[in-house]
Amino acid sequence: MPRIAYVNGRYVDHRAAAVHVEDRGYQFADGVYEVIHLFRNRLIDEEPHLDRLDRSLRELDMAWPMGRAAMRVAMREIVRRNGYATGLLYIQVTRGVAPRDHKFPQLPMSSLVMTVRPIPEFPDDMREEGVAVVTIDDIRWARRDIKSISLLPNVLGKQAAADAGAYEAWMIDADGMVTEGTSSNAWIVNGEGTLVTRPADHDILRGITRQAILRMADELDIAFEERPFSRDEALGAREAFMSNSSHFVTPVTRIDDNAIANGRPGSLSTALHERYLDFMKEFQKLN
Ligand SMILES: Cc1ncc(COP(=O)(O)O)c(C=O)c1O
Repeated sequence: MPRIAYVNGRYVDHRAAAVHVEDRGYQFADGVYEVIHLFRNRLIDEEPHLDRLDRSLRELDMAWPMGRAAMRVAMREIVRRNGYATGLLYIQVTRGVAPRDHKFPQLPMSSLVMTVRPIPEFPDDMREEGVAVVTIDDIRWARRDIKSISLLPNVLGKQAAADAGAYEAWMIDADGMVTEGTSSNAWIVNGEGTLVTRPADHDILRGITRQAILRMADELDIAFEERPFSRDEALGAREAFMSNSSHFVTPVTRIDDNAIANGRPGSLSTALHERYLDFMKEFQKLN
């Protein structure tokens, strides 16, 4: 089955999928996006992702490309046409095509692009070994809560991580506190066994997986604190991990070449990931 992309109402061969050169996403990064995990033909946390898309659009005064119900239909159709049971659905909305001018076009017509990429169902390697993280300055803008396609600092950060032989970069704010990863939220478990993650204000993206983990912590009676933590606190933590929709919980076992605890994935990180997989399986059966 050939890979299919959705581009402004058309389902096209992925290799030939293209937008106009004056799409404002291409010229100004004037757009927002979502990545939703497709698990055994079900879109995990679809509604929270659409809620966040709605919020990103509203914060930027950008229109939905179509109504939310029609959007759900198109999402299902692109999934169906690609035929992958498990993968990642990428959704990008921009302020559309208009002659290049920074201010909003008078009659903006939002552009919508969607793609689906297959991924392995339970890639265990990163989870079993954990991943290494480097720390870098957070040089992003002040509205990181908006899931903007303007990802240049994240791109540079991920490359810095790769250059250092690490998987992810954790960004550090002007006060020396960790904000988040370039494509993930950052967590530690402190000496008392309390889960710590930064509050979801304008400084970080309110991760959908982050929200799910906080819900699970509540259910499992795991103490948690939403507060900033420093690189030093992370280095002395009992566990560290990162979260996102692509991989859920990934243990972090090294930060800037320092082993975290004994350098092995922590038990709470592992338990949270297992619980998340249970949730996905239950969700898959129920829907
Ligand atoms: C900067 C950033 N923070 C956090 C996340 C995690 O968000 P979610 O759990 O919704 O995937 C992402 C996901 O791509 C991200 O890009």
